[in-house]
Amino acid sequence: MPLLAEKHIVLGITGGIAAYKSAEIVRRLIEQGAVVQVVMTEAAKAFIAPLTLQALSGRPVRDSLLDPSAESGMGHIEIARWADQIVIAPASADFIARLAGGMASDLLTTVCLATSAPIALAPAMNQGMWNNTATQRNIDTLTADGVSLLGPASGAQACGDVGPGRMLEPADIVNHLMDSGKVRALDGTNVTITAGPTWEALDPVRALSNHSSGKMGYAVAAAAAAAGASVTLVSGPTALKPPSGIRYQAVQSAEDMLAAVEREIEDCDVFIGVAAVADYRPAQPASSKIKKHSESVTLELVRNPDILALVAQNPKRPFTVGFAAETDQAIPNARDKLQRKGLDLIAVNQINATNNPFGSEENHLVLISEMDEIDLGRDSKTALAEHLIAEIAHRYHDQHSTQDH
Ligand code: PMT
Repeated sequence: MPLLAEKHIVLGITGGIAAYKSAEIVRRLIEQGAVVQVVMTEAAKAFIAPLTLQALSGRPVRDSLLDPSAESGMGHIEIARWADQIVIAPASADFIARLAGGMASDLLTTVCLATSAPIALAPAMNQGMWNNTATQRNIDTLTADGVSLLGPASGAQACGDVGPGRMLEPADIVNHLMDSGKVRALDGTNVTITAGPTWEALDPVRALSNHSSGKMGYAVAAAAAAAGASVTLVSGPTALKPPSGIRYQAVQSAEDMLAAVEREIEDCDVFIGVAAVADYRPAQPASSKIKKHSESVTLELVRNPDILALVAQNPKRPFTVGFAAETDQAIPNARDKLQRKGLDLIAVNQINATNNPFGSEENHLVLISEMDEIDLGRDSKTALAEHLIAEIAHRYHDQHSTQDH
């Protein structure tokens, strides 16, 4: 499925030479699966013919607030309600001033005033007009009101000046809409993530565990939620506060973690196993505290279920992503894990003198799939998680568009 599949986008076009680029924006939005309703100001029509935009969007262009035929069909309030996202490109100085003033003087300002959808502006004007105190005051007002800014870029202008005020290129505007969460890459998906260590009870007061802090998994959960997913985080014991806007399931042992994951898997679109799950657990946890009577103790350990492999084997398997923490032969070992467990993607973190991901704020990840290998480099866990989620979203949508054909 393309990234903007069935998103309702109102493209507002105002008067400026960059309006000719709006045709390319419509084409790219449609290519990404969006349904585009063009709304033009009177001034915009001097720069590009509505018929061009109608042909590209497949919908009649709307340009008049007081149009009885339109009001009986899709009037200004209907357009405002219909929109998932409004983007004004180009946004002229005059339009920005009217929007900042809360005016409803034409169809486009009225739709913006009436909508609850996010609004993004791609300003386009002469550098002097952009730098003018009044324009900057209007921009400050609009950003404080929650309107997002796409650009402007700096460079040579149609009037011969050089400076800030050029509209961003159509590809950049559409990429911003896809990437920045304004139309979010994982909207409508259910994502389950495991994080942290597991604790395998030896007796009522002791457990076998590892040094996972949960930071990587919690960062992945936050990034997935920011990308629009409905996230369930199944976490072993950590000292972290769960990210906001997610469903949180606290567990202790690998068996608890498996039970929690199994409850989610039916409706899960993407599964990401970041947890450092103990491979073994004590065969017989003591029912009371083990006493220090002898010099040594022998523990019998039994294998824990492999949660990730079980998810990947499920007949209704989600897009399945594993992690691998390796000390030796990291890439070949991870590739082997990818194939053995039947994963779509694996994120490898090598443990060596320069990278110990356990507990630290930073990590170094390499992504491996059957098709490719991408080194995400060394970065904060937050930045790596955002990069990982963007890669997962892109591959998940590709896989689904292939299955749909
Ligand atoms: O929590 P932090 O301090 O931020 O550290 C992050 C991390 C190092 C724990 C994380 O980046 C990471 O690498 N997690 C996986 C570590 C690991 O134990 O890998 P593994 O090779 O044992 O397991 C491979 C994959 O199978 C993992 O996705 C794991 O979640 C999964 N697995 C493993 C065993 C098991 N019984 N069930 C599983 O689901």
